[in-house]
Amino acid sequence: MLFLGRSESFQSGTSPEVGRSGGDFVKLGHWRNAIRSMRVAQIRGFARLLILFGRSRRGAGLIMRARRSRVIRPVLERLLAFHGTFPSIEAASACAVRYVPESHDHPKQMSLHSEFAQVTRESDYPVLFFLAPIASELRSVFDLGGSVGNLFFQLDRHLHLSSDLVWTVHDLPFKRNAMVEFARSRDEGRLRFSDEFSSASGVDLFIVAGAIHFFEPTLGTLLARLDRFPKHVIINRSPFSNLDDIVAVHDGKLWVNPCKLHGIDKFCSAMRGLGYELVASWPVHERRTRVPLFPDCDGTYRGFYFRLTEDPERA
Ligand SMILES: C[S@@+](CC[C@H](N)C(=O)[O-])C[C@H]1O[C@@H](n2cnc3c(N)ncnc32)[C@H](O)[C@@H]1O
Repeated sequence: MLFLGRSESFQSGTSPEVGRSGGDFVKLGHWRNAIRSMRVAQIRGFARLLILFGRSRRGAGLIMRARRSRVIRPVLERLLAFHGTFPSIEAASACAVRYVPESHDHPKQMSLHSEFAQVTRESDYPVLFFLAPIASELRSVFDLGGSVGNLFFQLDRHLHLSSDLVWTVHDLPFKRNAMVEFARSRDEGRLRFSDEFSSASGVDLFIVAGAIHFFEPTLGTLLARLDRFPKHVIINRSPFSNLDDIVAVHDGKLWVNPCKLHGIDKFCSAMRGLGYELVASWPVHERRTRVPLFPDCDGTYRGFYFRLTEDPERA
Protein backbone atom coordinates (compact mmCIF):
# COMPACT_ATOMS: atom_id res chain seq x y z
CA MET A 1 0.00 0.00 0.00
CA LEU A 2 2.76 2.35 1.01
CA PHE A 3 4.77 1.50 -2.10
CA LEU A 4 1.90 2.23 -4.49
CA GLY A 5 1.11 5.56 -2.90
CA ARG A 6 4.71 6.67 -3.00
CA SER A 7 5.38 5.68 -6.64
CA GLU A 8 2.25 7.48 -7.78
CA SER A 9 3.18 10.63 -5.96
CA PHE A 10 6.69 10.56 -7.45
CA GLN A 11 5.19 10.47 -10.95
CA SER A 12 2.88 13.39 -10.43
CA GLY A 13 5.16 15.30 -8.12
CA THR A 14 2.18 15.92 -5.81
CA SER A 15 0.29 14.00 -3.18
CA PRO A 16 -1.43 10.88 -4.59
CA GLU A 17 -4.87 12.46 -4.22
CA VAL A 18 -4.15 15.53 -6.42
CA GLY A 19 -4.86 15.55 -10.15
CA ARG A 20 -6.03 11.99 -10.45
CA SER A 21 -9.03 10.83 -12.47
CA GLY A 22 -11.80 8.61 -11.08
CA GLY A 23 -10.41 5.65 -13.04
CA ASP A 24 -7.02 6.00 -11.31
CA PHE A 25 -8.70 5.91 -7.91
CA VAL A 26 -10.58 2.75 -8.84
CA LYS A 27 -7.35 1.10 -10.00
CA LEU A 28 -5.53 2.20 -6.87
CA GLY A 29 -8.41 0.80 -4.80
CA HIS A 30 -8.18 -2.56 -6.59
CA TRP A 31 -4.45 -2.74 -5.97
CA ARG A 32 -4.86 -1.88 -2.33
CA ASN A 33 -7.53 -4.56 -1.88
CA ALA A 34 -5.44 -7.16 -3.71
CA ILE A 35 -2.38 -6.42 -1.56
CA ARG A 36 -4.47 -6.45 1.61
CA SER A 37 -6.03 -9.80 0.64
CA MET A 38 -2.59 -11.29 0.06
CA ARG A 39 -1.35 -10.01 3.41
CA VAL A 40 -4.44 -11.38 5.19
CA ALA A 41 -3.91 -14.77 3.49
CA GLN A 42 -0.27 -14.74 4.62
CA ILE A 43 -1.29 -13.88 8.22
CA ARG A 44 -3.91 -16.63 8.34
CA GLY A 45 -1.59 -19.16 6.69
CA PHE A 46 1.24 -18.42 9.12
CA ALA A 47 -1.11 -18.54 12.12
CA ARG A 48 -2.42 -21.96 10.99
CA LEU A 49 1.11 -23.23 10.53
CA LEU A 50 2.16 -22.08 14.00
CA ILE A 51 -0.94 -23.63 15.59
CA LEU A 52 -0.22 -26.93 13.84
CA PHE A 53 3.44 -26.79 14.92
CA GLY A 54 2.40 -25.99 18.49
CA ARG A 55 0.35 -29.16 18.74
CA SER A 56 3.50 -31.27 19.13
CA ARG A 57 5.37 -31.08 22.43
CA ARG A 58 8.59 -30.08 20.74
CA GLY A 59 6.82 -27.44 18.64
CA ALA A 60 5.01 -26.01 21.67
CA GLY A 61 8.30 -25.82 23.58
CA LEU A 62 9.99 -23.96 20.73
CA ILE A 63 7.13 -21.47 20.36
CA MET A 64 7.12 -20.80 24.10
CA ARG A 65 10.88 -20.13 23.96
CA ALA A 66 10.46 -17.88 20.93
CA ARG A 67 7.70 -16.01 22.77
CA ARG A 68 10.17 -15.12 25.53
CA SER A 69 12.89 -14.01 23.09
CA ARG A 70 13.20 -10.27 22.64
CA VAL A 71 14.59 -10.82 19.14
CA ILE A 72 12.30 -13.52 17.71
CA ARG A 73 8.99 -12.44 19.22
CA PRO A 74 8.74 -9.12 17.31
CA VAL A 75 9.41 -10.99 14.06
CA LEU A 76 6.65 -13.52 14.81
CA GLU A 77 4.30 -10.73 15.84
CA ARG A 78 4.95 -8.89 12.60
CA LEU A 79 4.12 -12.04 10.61
CA LEU A 80 1.05 -12.76 12.75
CA ALA A 81 -0.28 -9.18 12.80
CA PHE A 82 -3.91 -9.49 14.07
CA HIS A 83 -3.27 -13.13 15.03
CA GLY A 84 -0.81 -11.99 17.68
CA THR A 85 -1.63 -11.04 21.27
CA PHE A 86 -2.31 -7.56 22.61
CA PRO A 87 -2.23 -5.52 25.82
CA SER A 88 -5.93 -4.63 25.53
CA ILE A 89 -9.06 -5.20 23.42
CA GLU A 90 -8.70 -1.65 22.16
CA ALA A 91 -5.17 -2.37 20.88
CA ALA A 92 -6.37 -5.63 19.26
CA SER A 93 -9.20 -3.74 17.60
CA ALA A 94 -6.89 -1.04 16.23
CA CYS A 95 -4.69 -3.70 14.65
CA ALA A 96 -7.47 -5.97 13.32
CA VAL A 97 -9.47 -3.22 11.61
CA ARG A 98 -6.51 -2.48 9.31
CA TYR A 99 -6.81 -5.96 7.80
CA VAL A 100 -10.47 -7.01 8.17
CA PRO A 101 -12.77 -4.02 8.78
CA GLU A 102 -15.91 -6.00 9.67
CA SER A 103 -16.57 -7.04 13.25
CA HIS A 104 -19.80 -7.43 15.27
CA ASP A 105 -21.58 -5.29 12.68
CA HIS A 106 -21.36 -7.87 9.88
CA PRO A 107 -24.95 -8.57 8.69
CA LYS A 108 -24.33 -12.32 8.51
CA GLN A 109 -24.00 -12.36 12.30
CA MET A 110 -27.55 -11.15 12.71
CA SER A 111 -28.99 -13.84 10.42
CA LEU A 112 -26.85 -16.48 12.13
CA HIS A 113 -28.17 -15.47 15.55
CA SER A 114 -31.77 -15.48 14.28
CA GLU A 115 -31.21 -19.07 13.11
CA PHE A 116 -29.81 -19.97 16.54
CA ALA A 117 -33.21 -19.09 18.03
CA GLN A 118 -34.59 -22.23 16.36
CA VAL A 119 -32.00 -24.71 17.58
CA THR A 120 -30.84 -26.10 20.90
CA ARG A 121 -27.10 -26.47 20.76
CA GLU A 122 -25.23 -29.10 22.77
CA SER A 123 -23.88 -26.41 25.08
CA ASP A 124 -27.42 -25.18 25.86
CA TYR A 125 -28.27 -28.39 27.74
CA PRO A 126 -26.27 -27.61 30.92
CA VAL A 127 -28.07 -24.24 31.05
CA LEU A 128 -31.46 -25.94 30.66
CA PHE A 129 -30.50 -28.41 33.37
CA PHE A 130 -29.64 -25.68 35.90
CA LEU A 131 -32.48 -23.37 34.97
CA ALA A 132 -35.25 -25.99 34.99
CA PRO A 133 -35.71 -25.99 38.81
CA ILE A 134 -35.83 -22.18 39.05
CA ALA A 135 -37.43 -21.27 35.70
CA SER A 136 -40.92 -20.70 37.13
CA GLU A 137 -39.54 -18.18 39.70
CA LEU A 138 -37.74 -16.04 37.13
CA ARG A 139 -39.28 -12.61 36.57
CA SER A 140 -36.27 -10.57 35.39
CA VAL A 141 -33.40 -11.67 33.16
CA PHE A 142 -30.48 -9.63 31.82
CA ASP A 143 -28.91 -11.11 28.68
CA LEU A 144 -25.47 -9.59 28.11
CA GLY A 145 -24.43 -9.63 24.43
CA GLY A 146 -27.87 -11.05 23.69
CA SER A 147 -27.95 -10.01 20.02
CA VAL A 148 -31.48 -10.50 18.61
CA GLY A 149 -32.66 -12.21 21.80
CA ASN A 150 -32.18 -15.69 20.34
CA LEU A 151 -31.32 -17.21 23.72
CA PHE A 152 -34.73 -16.24 25.07
CA PHE A 153 -36.58 -18.09 22.30
CA GLN A 154 -34.37 -21.13 22.56
CA LEU A 155 -34.79 -21.43 26.36
CA ASP A 156 -38.47 -20.51 26.42
CA ARG A 157 -39.26 -23.39 24.07
CA HIS A 158 -38.15 -25.85 26.77
CA LEU A 159 -38.73 -23.92 30.01
CA HIS A 160 -42.04 -22.14 29.26
CA LEU A 161 -40.95 -19.00 31.08
CA SER A 162 -43.50 -16.92 32.99
CA SER A 163 -45.79 -14.54 31.11
CA ASP A 164 -44.72 -11.86 33.69
CA LEU A 165 -41.06 -12.23 32.81
CA VAL A 166 -39.05 -9.28 31.49
CA TRP A 167 -36.07 -10.43 29.44
CA THR A 168 -33.67 -7.52 28.86
CA VAL A 169 -31.14 -7.80 26.04
CA HIS A 170 -28.06 -5.62 26.33
CA ASP A 171 -25.92 -5.42 23.20
CA LEU A 172 -24.18 -2.85 21.04
CA PRO A 173 -26.64 -0.02 20.26
CA PHE A 174 -26.82 -0.82 16.53
CA LYS A 175 -28.42 -4.19 17.39
CA ARG A 176 -31.44 -2.57 19.01
CA ASN A 177 -33.66 -2.41 15.91
CA ALA A 178 -32.87 -5.96 14.84
CA MET A 179 -33.76 -7.24 18.31
CA VAL A 180 -36.98 -5.25 18.56
CA GLU A 181 -38.00 -6.31 15.05
CA PHE A 182 -37.18 -9.97 15.71
CA ALA A 183 -39.35 -9.99 18.86
CA ARG A 184 -42.17 -8.22 17.02
CA SER A 185 -42.06 -10.69 14.13
CA ARG A 186 -42.61 -13.46 16.67
CA ASP A 187 -45.30 -11.57 18.52
CA GLU A 188 -43.23 -11.70 21.72
CA GLY A 189 -43.80 -8.94 24.28
CA ARG A 190 -41.47 -10.14 27.04
CA LEU A 191 -38.26 -8.85 25.42
CA ARG A 192 -36.71 -5.41 25.95
CA PHE A 193 -33.49 -3.84 24.74
CA SER A 194 -31.36 -1.74 27.07
CA ASP A 195 -28.21 0.27 26.38
CA GLU A 196 -27.55 0.47 30.10
CA PHE A 197 -25.55 -2.15 31.93
CA SER A 198 -27.13 -0.83 35.12
CA SER A 199 -30.41 -2.52 34.03
CA ALA A 200 -28.80 -5.73 35.33
CA SER A 201 -29.12 -4.48 38.91
CA GLY A 202 -30.92 -7.02 41.12
CA VAL A 203 -32.20 -9.24 38.28
CA ASP A 204 -33.15 -12.84 39.05
CA LEU A 205 -30.87 -14.15 36.32
CA PHE A 206 -27.86 -12.62 34.59
CA ILE A 207 -26.94 -14.67 31.54
CA VAL A 208 -24.15 -14.19 29.04
CA ALA A 209 -23.65 -16.67 26.22
CA GLY A 210 -20.86 -16.41 23.67
CA ALA A 211 -19.97 -12.89 24.71
CA ILE A 212 -18.05 -12.49 27.99
CA HIS A 213 -14.78 -12.72 26.04
CA PHE A 214 -15.70 -9.48 24.25
CA PHE A 215 -15.46 -7.55 27.52
CA GLU A 216 -12.18 -6.26 28.88
CA PRO A 217 -13.07 -6.20 32.61
CA THR A 218 -13.64 -9.47 34.36
CA LEU A 219 -17.31 -10.27 35.06
CA GLY A 220 -16.75 -9.65 38.79
CA THR A 221 -15.61 -6.10 38.01
CA LEU A 222 -18.66 -5.50 35.82
CA LEU A 223 -21.10 -6.83 38.42
CA ALA A 224 -19.42 -4.83 41.21
CA ARG A 225 -20.73 -1.68 39.47
CA LEU A 226 -24.33 -2.68 40.13
CA ASP A 227 -26.35 -1.42 43.09
CA ARG A 228 -27.77 -4.90 43.64
CA PHE A 229 -26.25 -8.16 42.49
CA PRO A 230 -28.16 -10.67 40.33
CA LYS A 231 -29.21 -13.85 42.19
CA HIS A 232 -28.13 -16.33 39.53
CA VAL A 233 -25.33 -15.85 37.00
CA ILE A 234 -24.79 -18.12 34.02
CA ILE A 235 -21.89 -17.76 31.61
CA ASN A 236 -21.81 -20.04 28.59
CA ARG A 237 -19.93 -20.70 25.36
CA SER A 238 -16.88 -18.48 25.86
CA PRO A 239 -13.20 -19.35 25.50
CA PHE A 240 -11.16 -19.12 28.70
CA SER A 241 -7.48 -19.26 29.48
CA ASN A 242 -5.92 -21.85 31.77
CA LEU A 243 -3.04 -19.33 32.07
CA ASP A 244 -3.35 -15.61 32.74
CA ASP A 245 -5.68 -13.33 30.71
CA ILE A 246 -4.83 -13.31 26.99
CA VAL A 247 -6.15 -10.73 24.52
CA ALA A 248 -6.31 -12.02 20.97
CA VAL A 249 -8.57 -11.81 17.93
CA HIS A 250 -11.27 -14.31 17.07
CA ASP A 251 -11.17 -14.82 13.32
CA GLY A 252 -14.58 -15.47 11.81
CA LYS A 253 -13.09 -15.10 8.27
CA LEU A 254 -15.77 -12.62 7.08
CA TRP A 255 -15.27 -10.66 10.30
CA VAL A 256 -12.78 -10.51 13.17
CA ASN A 257 -13.68 -9.89 16.80
CA PRO A 258 -11.04 -8.83 19.32
CA CYS A 259 -11.52 -10.83 22.49
CA LYS A 260 -10.09 -11.60 25.89
CA LEU A 261 -9.62 -15.13 27.12
CA HIS A 262 -10.11 -14.49 30.81
CA GLY A 263 -7.90 -16.51 33.13
CA ILE A 264 -10.21 -19.00 34.89
CA ASP A 265 -8.72 -18.59 38.38
CA LYS A 266 -8.96 -14.82 38.38
CA PHE A 267 -12.44 -14.96 36.85
CA CYS A 268 -13.81 -17.32 39.51
CA SER A 269 -12.09 -15.64 42.45
CA ALA A 270 -13.59 -12.26 41.46
CA MET A 271 -17.04 -13.87 41.58
CA ARG A 272 -16.33 -15.47 44.96
CA GLY A 273 -15.17 -12.06 46.20
CA LEU A 274 -18.65 -10.70 45.47
CA GLY A 275 -20.32 -13.47 47.47
CA TYR A 276 -21.08 -15.97 44.70
CA GLU A 277 -20.59 -19.71 44.97
CA LEU A 278 -19.65 -21.72 41.93
CA VAL A 279 -22.40 -24.30 41.53
CA ALA A 280 -21.07 -25.91 38.35
CA SER A 281 -18.82 -25.46 35.35
CA TRP A 282 -18.67 -27.39 32.10
CA PRO A 283 -16.51 -27.56 28.98
CA VAL A 284 -18.06 -26.66 25.63
CA HIS A 285 -16.65 -28.81 22.87
CA GLU A 286 -18.40 -27.13 19.95
CA ARG A 287 -15.46 -24.83 19.33
CA ARG A 288 -11.99 -23.85 20.50
CA THR A 289 -9.88 -20.72 20.23
CA ARG A 290 -6.23 -21.34 19.52
CA VAL A 291 -3.74 -18.54 20.04
CA PRO A 292 -0.68 -19.19 17.83
CA LEU A 293 1.87 -17.74 20.28
CA PHE A 294 0.30 -19.58 23.24
CA PRO A 295 0.16 -23.31 22.47
CA ASP A 296 0.08 -23.84 26.26
CA CYS A 297 -3.29 -22.05 26.49
CA ASP A 298 -6.00 -24.64 25.88
CA GLY A 299 -8.59 -22.04 24.77
CA THR A 300 -11.44 -24.37 25.67
CA TYR A 301 -14.90 -22.87 25.62
CA ARG A 302 -16.63 -23.16 28.98
CA GLY A 303 -19.76 -22.51 30.94
CA PHE A 304 -20.25 -21.55 34.62
CA TYR A 305 -23.19 -21.29 36.97
CA PHE A 306 -22.76 -19.01 40.01
CA ARG A 307 -25.34 -18.44 42.75
CA LEU A 308 -25.36 -15.52 45.16
CA THR A 309 -24.93 -16.75 48.72
CA GLU A 310 -24.41 -13.54 50.63
CA ASP A 311 -24.92 -9.93 49.79
CA PRO A 312 -25.95 -8.22 53.02
CA GLU A 313 -25.48 -4.77 51.55
CA ARG A 314 -26.87 -5.21 48.08
CA ALA A 315 -29.30 -8.21 47.97
C1 LIG B 1 -21.29 -14.48 19.49
S1 LIG B 1 -22.54 -13.31 19.77
C2 LIG B 1 -23.53 -14.16 20.96
C3 LIG B 1 -25.00 -13.97 20.75
C4 LIG B 1 -25.92 -14.76 21.69
N1 LIG B 1 -25.71 -14.38 23.08
C5 LIG B 1 -25.73 -16.24 21.51
O1 LIG B 1 -25.30 -16.92 22.44
O2 LIG B 1 -26.04 -16.74 20.42
C6 LIG B 1 -21.76 -12.06 20.71
C7 LIG B 1 -22.60 -10.84 20.95
O3 LIG B 1 -21.90 -9.95 21.84
C8 LIG B 1 -22.17 -8.64 21.43
N2 LIG B 1 -21.16 -7.70 21.94
C9 LIG B 1 -19.85 -7.63 21.63
N3 LIG B 1 -19.26 -6.62 22.28
C10 LIG B 1 -20.22 -6.03 23.04
C11 LIG B 1 -20.22 -4.92 23.94
N4 LIG B 1 -19.12 -4.21 24.18
N5 LIG B 1 -21.39 -4.60 24.55
C12 LIG B 1 -22.52 -5.30 24.31
N6 LIG B 1 -22.57 -6.36 23.46
C13 LIG B 1 -21.43 -6.73 22.83
C14 LIG B 1 -22.15 -8.73 19.91
O4 LIG B 1 -22.76 -7.64 19.28
C15 LIG B 1 -22.88 -10.05 19.69
O5 LIG B 1 -24.27 -9.86 19.55
